[in-house]
Amino acid sequence: MLGSMNRCSRLLAIAFLMPFFLEPLSALEKPWLDTSKPVAERVTLLLAQMTLAEKTGQMVQAERGALQPGDVRTYGIGSVLSGGGSLPASNTPAGWIELVNRLQTESLNTRLGVPILYGIDAVHGHNNVYGATIFPHNLGLGAARDPELMEQIGRVTALEVAATGLNWTFAPCVAVVQDIRWGRTYESYGESRELQTLLTARLVQGLQGAQGTVDWLSGAHIVATAKHFLGDGGVLYETGEGSTTIDRGNVEIPLEQLKALHGQGYVEAIRAGVQTIMASFSSYQGVHMHANKALLTDWLKAPVASGGLGFGGFVIGDWDAMGLTSEVKGDYAAKVLNSFNAGVDMAMEQSNWRKVIEILLASVKNGSIGQARIDDAVRRILTVKFNAGLFEHPMATNQYSDQLGSAVNRAVAARAVKESLVLLKNDKKLLPLKPGAKVFVAGPMADNVGRQCGGWTLSWQGGFDRKVGKKVTRLTPGTTLLEGLQAQAKAGDGEIITDVARLAQASVAVIAVGETPYAEMQGDIQLGGKMTLDSPGRMSAGNREAIAQALDAGVPVVVVLVSGRPLVVTDELSKWGALVVAWLPGSEGAAIAEVLYGQEDFRGKLPVTWPRSVEDLPAAGSKTALFPYGFGLSLR
Ligand code: GLC
Repeated sequence: MLGSMNRCSRLLAIAFLMPFFLEPLSALEKPWLDTSKPVAERVTLLLAQMTLAEKTGQMVQAERGALQPGDVRTYGIGSVLSGGGSLPASNTPAGWIELVNRLQTESLNTRLGVPILYGIDAVHGHNNVYGATIFPHNLGLGAARDPELMEQIGRVTALEVAATGLNWTFAPCVAVVQDIRWGRTYESYGESRELQTLLTARLVQGLQGAQGTVDWLSGAHIVATAKHFLGDGGVLYETGEGSTTIDRGNVEIPLEQLKALHGQGYVEAIRAGVQTIMASFSSYQGVHMHANKALLTDWLKAPVASGGLGFGGFVIGDWDAMGLTSEVKGDYAAKVLNSFNAGVDMAMEQSNWRKVIEILLASVKNGSIGQARIDDAVRRILTVKFNAGLFEHPMATNQYSDQLGSAVNRAVAARAVKESLVLLKNDKKLLPLKPGAKVFVAGPMADNVGRQCGGWTLSWQGGFDRKVGKKVTRLTPGTTLLEGLQAQAKAGDGEIITDVARLAQASVAVIAVGETPYAEMQGDIQLGGKMTLDSPGRMSAGNREAIAQALDAGVPVVVVLVSGRPLVVTDELSKWGALVVAWLPGSEGAAIAEVLYGQEDFRGKLPVTWPRSVEDLPAAGSKTALFPYGFGLSLR
């Protein structure tokens, strides 16, 4: 059937695509451009003019690299994205602005001139862009527990995204991590719904601006996305998709518990006016979220009066996720249609976008998707575009370009680093470091901006600074823990020693250890993994050796852990004088040193339970943990 329909759907596609080759309507023929009209009315006016092809074009998002010149115009594509590391030739504000405007010009030259949304994962700052301010990943922000800081982070992130001419970020991730063996643990604020209540709305408000104010979705504000709906952080170990152990797995808890624990972030984000929500790769009781009408449509989008969340924006699918709904019978087309009918409004079938348009065109004709579902999806998409002011200001400008990575923005990130630090042990008041002390510094995480930033930095999986001889090339501009310690010591007539031959001269050693960068399933702990500092996989080589050399020299050790989650340190903790958790601090690593020297006190509290062993996992809420959720010491 579909085979014959290919020819048929191609004929349909040609017949339906004709409007895109017509001249653009004049402004007088576009009453929806009248900003004095309510958005709902403007949407109705525009929707009434749209052909089926123009509507289905709005329902697909194409990856930048999967487009040929002219495709956006020919197919009326609604959105373009850059996946992790998908960059323009020049990874600069000017390079991004040129890319966005080239695509936007195509879109404005279609018959109806509906602008595109350009989406990107700016998940801890504008992390795809060289020179951007890189904030601590979410788990560190969960440790900081500072709502006002969250709004500042959102505001700065939006400013730096706007500095490159983009208008949409796939953030915040509001996952509520339950098992820290999950590779996306660091993308979660932590294991409790209280953190969602405390932090989510303020981050969304920072990104989009406050609803009801002139800031809302104007100026240097952008469209936000709460993700991944629903229950991504509740997946069970050994239920992972394909060969991975937990990512994109299955959630089993009772429905009311699912909604209460994993739904809180969406309640908060919707309250703050979030414009888009991303469906999760994960499943709930065996039904993939991209096929889950009961939750996507009958709860998320249903009116509050009937027990729903009343979400009025649109649901974006995740990367090629529609084809992964394995429980849905039939071929790819059947899975795609099922996802749209379940409540996904825009498909991120990023390189299959043309196929998705064909499937939609053919399926309206044969009734497997109703016109009402198409119109509801497009109405939602257009509502967000009108809300975002895209029709008034479609073209990217360089008015904010000088803000990228500014000192003022980096100061917000430095504040976040300091507030995220958690002090778990401090025997004999080893901390704060004495201003005049000789401090030995070593460890794979002590002097590497790339390692500090973790995944989703310049590329999907993140990367490392490069050292050739004495020349160091940072992955992206930033400062390191070592540089911060050197600055603090210099200010206080102390000395930082990095030459191991002089180790014995030091009164204390600061050893920075942790995990190498990773993202998503590539961070899942493999079967049998022990999550100790020398476990195979994502642990940095040299962790144990760096600590041992200081201990063997009889020098007291302050361990600084730079990782995307708690690690199992039970057996060696007693040998350490102090333990500081820095999570994945981002580009402003020097700020850690200010707290180690006591310029400010520790205020961070554990956002997740710290297990005694991997056998304790999932440990969320455990009372027999090494350190409980919410634990954190101070210097005074
Ligand atoms: C990824 C992630 C999602 C991200 C999207 C686009 O697979 O699951 O968080 O926003 O693809 O990069």
